[in-house]
Amino acid sequence: MLKVLMVYFSGTGVTRYFANLIQEEMEKRGYECDNLDLEELIDLPTLWQKKPVALNYTIRAEEKRPLGKYPWPYQRLKTALQNVEENPLFASLKQDWNDYDLIGFGSPVYSFRPAPVLIRFLLDLPVFNKKIRVFSFATHDGAQGDFEVFMRKLLRLKDFKYVGHLDQSFVYSATAIMRSSFNHRKTGRLLVKKTFQARKNIFVFLEYIHSLFYGIHYQYKGANLLDKMVGIPYRLFYSYGIDFILNRLLFGFGINKDECIGCMTCIQQCPQGLIELDDEGYPVRHYHCMYCLRCLNWCPTNALYFSGLTKGKARFPGPEVLLDAAMQDSIDDRLKKD
Ligand SMILES: Cc1cc2nc3c(=O)[nH]c(=O)nc-3n(C[C@H](O)[C@H](O)[C@H](O)COP(=O)(O)O)c2cc1C
Ligand code: SF4
Ligand code: SF4
Repeated sequence: MLKVLMVYFSGTGVTRYFANLIQEEMEKRGYECDNLDLEELIDLPTLWQKKPVALNYTIRAEEKRPLGKYPWPYQRLKTALQNVEENPLFASLKQDWNDYDLIGFGSPVYSFRPAPVLIRFLLDLPVFNKKIRVFSFATHDGAQGDFEVFMRKLLRLKDFKYVGHLDQSFVYSATAIMRSSFNHRKTGRLLVKKTFQARKNIFVFLEYIHSLFYGIHYQYKGANLLDKMVGIPYRLFYSYGIDFILNRLLFGFGINKDECIGCMTCIQQCPQGLIELDDEGYPVRHYHCMYCLRCLNWCPTNALYFSGLTKGKARFPGPEVLLDAAMQDSIDDRLKKD
């Protein structure tokens, strides 16, 4: 039976949730499936701070609003793709991953691309000359843009055999930080619906994977039909939309000092290690980041914000909390009926 590994980065937990759904469905079919959070594999701040890769939105933000004391030596994506070097930290992976028949790499979609930490990790991987079969997976808000194409190119650079892509739009975590009240139960119910749809997509994808390995003919059609149909105009339109949202809502880093209890959760949670304490003991972020929203989401008192518009607004609590809330709802409904 197939031995599968899935490696992912997740900012607010949606991609982790999706990876777990895929794993469950694989195991139902008798596949052996290991799930690996990138952060368990490698200390991300070390990986990141050595050679950060920046997507356009970070570069534009940096140009508009330089942050902190230290200038940050970002690599533009184009340059990073030209200067691919194997990282000795990952040399053993060639051996460790040798047993797997199939490897999946996943992350949230950030500005139509994979999350920069995942890009950095993939660029740093050794070349796998054994032609292991790989696929990519993503979660997003309905506009994954170039994610799939980008992953295909990147993984082929490492001599993997790219076989397909699986993605699902769930609940947009960034929108949550714009609302002053966040309805957990309602969003939870939406998530239940999306989960049902995700399982259907995963089923179709697994039929295709099965046919690849066991020879039954099955035609796989990617789930990103909208992207394929509407193509460039849609992407351009969405691109400006996302840019507007990111520019207006996210760039910056603010703290409401009255609310901060100095717990340092934000510092521990930042996957890029960008937050430090200032002289007064309050967190400051020194560089522009990838806006994974984790510091905001984990702050227990909601003291952090990215701009005036997001100040004091609700956070996205993550899929586990939402599903719990939705579940609670149905229990309450049942109680009412009784
Ligand atoms: C900085 C940033 C950029 C994003 N860009 C896009 C995008 O271009 N298209 C899209 O559909 N969703 C976009 N999203 C939404 C995320 O892809 C979505 O919320 C994802 O499910 C989050 O997964 P996570 O919880 O694993 O981090 C963006 C989110 C953030 C924080
Ligand atoms: S500062 Fe916050 S949003 Fe930026 S990378 Fe760190 S945790 Fe993510
Ligand atoms: S997580 Fe929130 S309360 Fe804790 S140190 Fe950071 S800003 Fe302050």
